[in-house]
Formats: sequence, structure tokens, C-alpha cells
Amino acid sequence: MFPQLLLVSCIFAALSLPMTFSLQSGQQKVLLVSFDGFRWDYLYKVPTPNFHHVMEYGVHVKQVTNIFITKTYPNHYTLVTGLFAESHGIVANDMFDPILNKSFSLDHMNIYDPEFWEEATPIWITNQRAGHTSGAAMWPGTDVKIHNSFPTHYMPYNESVSFEERVAKIIEWFTSKEPINLGLLYWEDPDDMGHQLGPDSPLMGPVISDIDHKLGYLIRMLKRANLWNDINLIITSDHGMTQCSKERIIELDKYLDKDHYTLIGHSPVAAILPKEGKFDDVYEALADAHPNLTVYKKEEMPERWHYKYNNRVQPIVAVADEGWHILQNKSDEFLLGNHGYDNALAEMHPIFLAHGPAFRENFTKEAMNSTDLYPLLCHLLSITAMPHNGSLSNVQDLLSSATPKAIPYTQSTTLLLGSGLPEYEPEEAYPYFIGLALGSIIVIVFSVIFIKHLIHSQVPALHYMHTEIAQPLLQA
Ligand SMILES: *[C@@H]1O[C@H](CO)[C@@H](O)[C@H](O)[C@H]1NC(C)=O
Ligand SMILES: *[C@@H]1O[C@H](CO)[C@@H](O)[C@H](O)[C@H]1NC(C)=O
Ligand SMILES: *[C@@H]1O[C@H](CO)[C@@H](O)[C@H](O)[C@H]1NC(C)=O
Ligand SMILES: *[C@@H]1O[C@H](CO)[C@@H](O)[C@H](O)[C@H]1NC(C)=O
Ligand SMILES: *[C@@H]1O[C@H](CO)[C@@H](O)[C@H](O)[C@H]1NC(C)=O
Ligand SMILES: *[C@@H]1O[C@H](CO)[C@@H](O)[C@H](O)[C@H]1NC(C)=O
Ligand SMILES: *[C@@H]1O[C@H](CO)[C@@H](O)[C@H](O)[C@H]1NC(C)=O
Ligand SMILES: [Zn+2]
Repeated sequence: MFPQLLLVSCIFAALSLPMTFSLQSGQQKVLLVSFDGFRWDYLYKVPTPNFHHVMEYGVHVKQVTNIFITKTYPNHYTLVTGLFAESHGIVANDMFDPILNKSFSLDHMNIYDPEFWEEATPIWITNQRAGHTSGAAMWPGTDVKIHNSFPTHYMPYNESVSFEERVAKIIEWFTSKEPINLGLLYWEDPDDMGHQLGPDSPLMGPVISDIDHKLGYLIRMLKRANLWNDINLIITSDHGMTQCSKERIIELDKYLDKDHYTLIGHSPVAAILPKEGKFDDVYEALADAHPNLTVYKKEEMPERWHYKYNNRVQPIVAVADEGWHILQNKSDEFLLGNHGYDNALAEMHPIFLAHGPAFRENFTKEAMNSTDLYPLLCHLLSITAMPHNGSLSNVQDLLSSATPKAIPYTQSTTLLLGSGLPEYEPEEAYPYFIGLALGSIIVIVFSVIFIKHLIHSQVPALHYMHTEIAQPLLQA
């Protein structure tokens, strides 16, 4: 009779603690938000109390190295695949694939051909294949049928739909009868205004304040829907923005014969497809044309850009120095702010903040790669990541120690008990405390039974048995 009871009490003692955590882990919810073109240091240009609130009760990464080219579509696809552009296939906002003999163009919203997206599998599809549901409010690519699937819920892209309407959809999906566990929310600013005004313009202040108000609105709506305490909110962006000037223009017509090439991708990374037999003419004419233009043959692209091994990278790629603009001639469209430049430049880097049960509080990290977000998302959603170029271990320190998989399962019960439970604000960890209370009651009840029997029988090998039984259970 006694050994069985000892076993049972040990099992409960061992299970009760992980149980308190799994109450949370079973239902990790993630909301990924992108404010397009939100440069890392916009946080300090004007007061941004809502962003700072998230940072103080969550985590903040100061420098996020995004991927080359630092454009919208390539970077948004990296955030949801963890792949460099050459591996996920969305190498630019405007592309030509010579094998498919097809074009992809943001200018004409000619982006709906699935073949351009199918070199990778975005996280919403992997999430759905694992039996979960996803919802997307205009995140780039979420209204494209990729590998025969859309997100479970999505909004067809329409830039006129307000932020409030997008938030309403996200809340609806998270609170429906079959709630989503992954939400993706996209907003076009401060990118649009950054292009028009230039990031150095004093008029950018109100634009950034407006984004802060939008974040405040999102937080209020999450609180009203009782989601704020159990949603893992991640706020990031695709790239930054740099100031341009009419004094810094590189005019291709000055150096190249228009009939010798097709310009596929535009400023500040000109993707040049020479006409049949014109490769050498074009390359030689451009190579030393301008001190602020670096011209690469495709196979000579720097390794660190991971921007070579894809058919959609054109034979000649000309990259402008920061703040320089490439035009064919002066009548082409000029922008006061732009991005797309070398991803090593700080001005190209986006923000990264997160808040929620999985994240630490008031924690600042110096740097991360944007490819590391994908394995972090997969970890939070408990899904198996597809092959990618990031690493969870690079960003594991953002996670609070109460996060299920961050618990070292090899420790014995006594070590777990003694390892110090994380300090939570009560309102931030409601399910956690219910779990903890339940677990504690079970432990106490069984300890009482256990001690009663111990006193009665005085088993000498108790210590030995305790660790033997507890360890394999915790490793399971
Ligand atoms: C590529 O497509 C264009 C029309 O979009 C067509 O004129 C051309 O012949 C095609 N080229 C090849 C090699 O199939
Ligand atoms: C886009 O949204 C606006 C505002 O909600 C609406 O008036 C318009 O009809 C929508 N356009 C399309 C093509 O659905
Ligand atoms: C542009 O080229 C000039 C001459 O080489 C150089 O001094 C300057 O630093 C370059 N500008 C940028 C932004 O790199
Ligand atoms: C400038 O380039 C655009 C398109 O590349 C072309 O339509 C326009 O005619 C050109 N203007 C001049 C003055 O060459
Ligand atoms: C966050 O940390 C800063 C300095 O490290 C401290 O001044 C502040 O009070 C902390 N905030 C919270 C909410 O713990
Ligand atoms: C970013 O990735 C590079 C290459 O994999 C690596 O060397 C570097 O340490 C990473 N940076 C951070 C901050 O994790
Ligand atoms: C990125 O990941 C993909 C998929 O695993 C792989 O094929 C590719 O070689 C990786 N790129 C680098 C630079 O490691
Ligand atoms: Zn963008």
C-alpha cells in the first residue's frame, strides 16, 4: 500500500508545478504588429508614452538588423519566415523572374501571383497546418493564396481601411468562439509620411505622435476585450528611413543608353537587366560612373547581404550610398525620404518591443537580427519551425523564466521549488496564480498524506526514491 501512495504523491508533487505553467502555455496568443517604416530612434524624437509603457512592462531591442534590401515586401516576408531574401524569394518590391518569365510589382499591386511567394512558407500557414487558426489585417502577403491557403481570417488589402477597423477585426478574431492564436496587423505609416516629408522634417513629430496614439488605441481595445494580460504583443517594423535631397541624385541616363537595359528595381538599389549581348557595355559604363554608386555583378554581391542565390536578383545590382537617390532622369519621381540601403546602416533599422506573459518586464537588449523573430514566434505558438536563417537562442533572453519551454526540465523538484518564482504584478498573471494556487493545494494535500505515512513507517530510502521518480517525469 505505502509504495503506491509514495509514488502517487511524488507524481503529483512533480506535476503540480509544470501544471501551473502549462495553464498558460496551452494558450499562448501572439499579436504581431508592424508600423511600416518606424525607424528605431523615432521613439525618442517626440514623447511616445504608449511605446514607452510597453517597453517598461515588457522588452525592448535597441538595434534590429533587418535584411537587405531594406524594403517593405522583402522584410515583411523575413519577419514571417525567418529567411533572407535570396531564400524566401521576395527579393524586392519590384521583381522579374526570368525562369517564370513573370513580373511582380508593388506599383501596380501586381503581387498576387502565388509563385513569387512559394519559395517559402509563411508562419500563418505553418500555424494552420498545426491545427491552429490565424487572422491577418493587411499584413503584406496575407491576402495572397500561398501554397493553396489564405490565413483563416484575413482582410483583402485596401489602404483606405482605417486602423480602428483593422483593430476591430483582430479583436473579433481573438475573441470568437474558435479564437485565433496568431494575429498579424499592419499599418502604412510612418512610412508614407516619411517618404513625403523626409525623416528629418519637424513635421514628422506629429506623425510619430499619431502612431503612438494608435498604439494607445490598440492597448485600450485589448484591455477592453480582456486580452491585454494574456496576449503576447510584438511591435516591430520592416525598416527605417533616411533623409534624401535633390542635391544627391544619380541620373542613370547620364551614363547608360536606355535601349541597353531594363530597370527592374528602383532607388536606392537599381536592379538592372541588360538587353541580350549588352551586359559588358552596361557594366563598364556604370562601374565607375558615380562615387556614390557601387555596382556589383550578381555573383560579386557581398556575402553578408545574402542576396545572390536567386533567379530574381538581376545580373547587375547598383547600390546607392545612404541618402542618395537613383533616377533614370530628373523627371522621375523624387522622394525626400527613402530606405532600401545597406542593412548595416543604423538609419535602416526598425523598432522592436514586446509585452505579454511570455516576455520579461522592463528588459532592454542591445541587438538582434530580424531573422530571429520567426523562431521566437514558432516557440510562442508551440509549432515546429520550417528551415530558416535565425536562431531562438539569440533571443531567448527576451523570455520570462516562467515561459514553459524556458524551464530547465532536467532539474529536480526541489530545485524547481527553490529556483524562485518570477515576480509578477497580480493583474498581469491571473491564470498563472490560479494554476499556482491549484498546484500548491495538491502539493500540500499530498505532502500531509505523505508525511503521515512517513511517520508511520520510517522508510530509509526516501531521498533516493524521490529524485529517481521525479526526474524522468520532469523530463517528459
Ligand atoms: C515572356 O512573356 C512575354 C509576355 O509577357 C512574351 O512576349 C515572351 O515571348 C515570353 N518569353 C519567353 C521566353 O517565353
Ligand atoms: C476600401 O475601403 C474603403 C473604406 O472602407 C471603401 O470605401 C472602399 O470601397 C474599399 N475599396 C475596395 C476596393 O474594397
Ligand atoms: C559620396 O561620395 C563621396 C566621394 O567619394 C564621399 O566623400 C561621401 O562620403 C559619399 N557619401 C556617402 C553618403 O557615402
Ligand atoms: C525620363 O524617364 C521616364 C521613364 O523612365 C520617361 O518616361 C521620360 O520620357 C524620360 N524623360 C526624359 C526627359 O528623358
Ligand atoms: C524600469 O527600469 C528603470 C531603470 O532600470 C526604472 O527606473 C523603472 O522604475 C523600472 N520600471 C518598472 C515598471 O519596473
Ligand atoms: C546576427 O547574425 C549574425 C550572423 O549569423 C551573427 O554573427 C550575429 O551574432 C547575430 N547578431 C545578434 C545580435 O544575434
Ligand atoms: C538560410 O536558410 C535556408 C533554409 O534552411 C538555407 O537553404 C540557406 O542556405 C540559409 N542561408 C544561409 C546564408 O545560411
Ligand atoms: Zn516599408
